[in-house]
This record gives sequence, structure tokens and C-alpha cells, in this order.
Amino acid sequence: MSETSPKLRAELEGIPTYKPGKPAAAGGPVAYKLSSNENPYPPLPGVLETVTAAVSSFNRYPDMACTGLMNELSERFGVPLSHLATGTGSVGVAQQLIQATSGPGDEVIYAWRSFEAYPIITQISGATSVRVPLTAGDVHDLDAMADAITERTRLIFVCNPNNPTGTVVRRAELERFLDRVPSDVLVVLDEAYREFIRDPEVPDGVELYRTRPNVCVLRTFSKAYGLAGLRVGFAIAHEPVAAALRKTAVPFGVSQLAQEAAIASLRAEDELLGRVGSLVCERNRVVEGLRAQGWTVPETQANFVWLRLGERTVDFAAACEQHGVVVRPFAGEGVRVTVGEAEANDIFLKVAEGFRKEL
Ligand SMILES: Cc1ncc(COP(=O)(O)O)c(C=O)c1O
Repeated sequence: MSETSPKLRAELEGIPTYKPGKPAAAGGPVAYKLSSNENPYPPLPGVLETVTAAVSSFNRYPDMACTGLMNELSERFGVPLSHLATGTGSVGVAQQLIQATSGPGDEVIYAWRSFEAYPIITQISGATSVRVPLTAGDVHDLDAMADAITERTRLIFVCNPNNPTGTVVRRAELERFLDRVPSDVLVVLDEAYREFIRDPEVPDGVELYRTRPNVCVLRTFSKAYGLAGLRVGFAIAHEPVAAALRKTAVPFGVSQLAQEAAIASLRAEDELLGRVGSLVCERNRVVEGLRAQGWTVPETQANFVWLRLGERTVDFAAACEQHGVVVRPFAGEGVRVTVGEAEANDIFLKVAEGFRKEL
């Protein structure tokens, strides 16, 4: 019998694998993980209790329609239930959006560098990625992105704030861009880090979606709400898009634990957003510290900072690791460092200071 492997789709060849942030080394003297933009705070006691109570019934499938969570979100954002869709993290919802809009011959536009899942999920669908370089200041070049639209464009990601640079696009420029996008092209405003924004000029995507049927807002419980391990995200979009998301969802993709935790987190929002406030203070301290050391740091509105280190990127990441903090290097470009516990941020600042002197 001849040994041939099962035929796989040609589109899968050459797909970059998603690189998760490296975990902190176990057993080291101190080990802080600043590589995945996670929330460093442990779950709130109330959220933990809710999840623990839900554990006893995991022999059952979850509520496939996420009814309780959908009701909570509908009220919280003032949007109809038919405009909501949930998924296994917002990356799951992003993949559903691509599946719903784009296939071979279609184009998906996004800034580069941006969230590393965009090229992966685009390529899986067989669509073509159109990457538009960030400006010299590491910000989305919305004019160039609008210029890149062709009749094959189906979807455009605008990551605001942008991962990994933390930079934002503001209201006037975003509205001008949206005015230029044809109404049959879907614009996905990926707002995974929305709660960390303090710049009043950055619009809330939900405001923009209300009057624009081709705008979809992506949000997650993974970052500010601290539920990264439970995998729940959602989209707010007008009906045809939200309905398509329900069609492309993996059945029962959001576990009951995740649903209960998300509801409990929305109800504990004041306390959670207080923690976000502390992280924002830490972020400002880290940025000021780096600038005082002489680094050029793009203005970040997220829970991470970006250091453009070019050829020194990997060395810098290794130096951080030696001192007990794990950061996220993008070889040849720069490192993204999550704002974590004050002790972890202090170690990072110290390594940065030493490194700066050597440059
Ligand atoms: C910009 C952006 N969007 C979406 C996600 C996906 O997050 P999750 O799938 O945990 O909701 C991330 C995670 O890092 C992100 O940085």
C-alpha cells in the first residue's frame, strides 16, 4: 500500500504559526510574564466564586445562545440582541468575521505591524492579506489604507489601540477614513484594549457603529476584565453581520464558566475598572521612566509599551529574561512589554536603563 498523506488545502502552506507570549520560567528566583498583555491581577473573589459554582455542572453543554451574557451586553451597550455575537475570545470572533466575508480572491486590509492573528486567519480563509505599513510614528496610516481598497476588498481591520505599538487613531481621522470606505466593505474596529484608553479624542467604536452599517466593533473579556484563560469575546454589528457571525460560530464555543464569569465581571465592573485605572498609572510611570532614560516610546493607550530596538531586539529580550521578566520580542523590529505588577515594571525599567547606556 502506498503511503500518501491526506490532502490538505494549499492555502495552509506557509501560514505563520501564532506565537503565544512566552510563559515565565518556573522555579526561577522571580519570574514575571510581560509577554501576553494579560491582566496581572488574580480573579476577583466574587468572580471566582461564581465560576467555582458553575464548575459542578460541566457535564452539561453550555447555553449555546449565551442568553444571560447577551442580555447583559445588550443592556450595558444599549444595543439590540440581534446586533450581538459572542465567540471563543475576540480572536475567535475575528476569524468568524473573515469566514463570513472573505475567501479566495478577496482581500483583507490591515496595518502592519499589528495583531499577529490577522495574517493567520486571513490566510486560512484563502483570502489575500494587504498589509499597509504603519507611519514612521507607528500609527495606522488610514489614508494609505483607504487608498489600498480595491473592488476585491471585503474586510478592513483597524486595531485601536494597535497591538503591539499601543498607538491610537483619533475621532476626526477615523471618521474621515470611514467616509471613504465603500458601504459594502466591512470595517472591524478591534478594541481589545478599549478600557485602557484615556485620550478623549479616541472614539468609542460603539458610537461609530450606531450610524454605520458596515462597522463592527470587537471587544474582549481577556484584557481589562482579566478572563484571558476563559476565552470569551464579542462583536457589536448590524444585523446581517451579527447574523453571519452566529452562523459561523463553533457550536457551544463559549463555555458556561466563561459565560458566568463574563456576567459576574460586568456586574463587578467598578472594581475591575479601578484595577484598570491602577494599570494606567503604572503605564504612565513606565513610559515616563523610559523617556527619562532617553528612549523614544510611542504614546501608548493600551496595557503595553513598544520599544523599537531593531537588531538589538532579541538581545534586549534575553537581558530582560535574565533578570526575571519575560517580554515579547518581534525579531528585527522591537519588543512589546506588558504593564504588569509594579515589581515587574521596576525590573523592566532597570534592564532598559542598563541597556540604554550600552547603546
Ligand atoms: C488587538 C487584539 N485583538 C484581539 C485579541 C484577542 O484576544 P482574545 O481572543 O483573548 O479575546 C488580542 C489578544 O492579544 C489583541 O491583541
